[in-house]
Amino acid sequence: MIIAITALKGGVGKTTTAVHLAAYFQTLAPTLLIDGDKNRSALVWSKEDKLPFYVASQAGAPGLIKKFTHIIIDTQARPEPEELEDLATGSDMLILPTTPNHLDLDTTVKAVELLKTLNANYKVLLTKVDSRTKNGRDARKFLEEAQLPLFKDEIPLLVAFQRSPSRGVIVKDFPDPRAYIGWNKYKAVGKEIMS
Ligand SMILES: Nc1ncnc2c1ncn2[C@@H]1O[C@H](COP(=O)(O)OP(=O)(O)O)[C@@H](O)[C@H]1O
Ligand SMILES: [Mg+2]
Repeated sequence: MIIAITALKGGVGKTTTAVHLAAYFQTLAPTLLIDGDKNRSALVWSKEDKLPFYVASQAGAPGLIKKFTHIIIDTQARPEPEELEDLATGSDMLILPTTPNHLDLDTTVKAVELLKTLNANYKVLLTKVDSRTKNGRDARKFLEEAQLPLFKDEIPLLVAFQRSPSRGVIVKDFPDPRAYIGWNKYKAVGKEIMS
């Protein structure tokens, strides 16, 4: 399975999603995360060798791909439409993370309009959802009304997600009593992809 995580905007949880889905897929079969972002965020995250899967740069990936069953591609903040097109044809599925924030939702609708013309297989994932507000529910309603395919589960806003990169670990291995909630949600998303 080749899955690309993309969005027309930065800061929506692409790298966080790529890393945690790669960790989930690694529990099923050998998984490679390709860091397609010039900022090399996933590669920096993996520097201490504490991630449970292999991370490669785009340049380093070609020779490795055939050794892995699952490939997760993390992408840069603002892909050109041509790049989206390449990702759509080169992957089995595109995942579009978005926060419940209005501007992010608006950008997601724009990305989907582009993807519709490409006949791509895509699904929207709500991220950084603050359970203390009703923003998540409102965003889900908005996306459903816009008839965007949406993951049943959403990723909660958790401190563990903010802090785990600096420790070089995924949330499952981050010492915080609420971290497991975040890991369970990414596991549920992974299961939905495989179902
Ligand atoms: N569910 C979450 N809860 C809290 N913080 C998050 C969550 N997901 C991502 N973040 C934080 O938000 C910021 C942007 O996330 P990142 O995954 O780097 O997004 P992108 O790759 O789209 O730019 C990072 O500081 C990250 O730690
Ligand atoms: Mg990123």
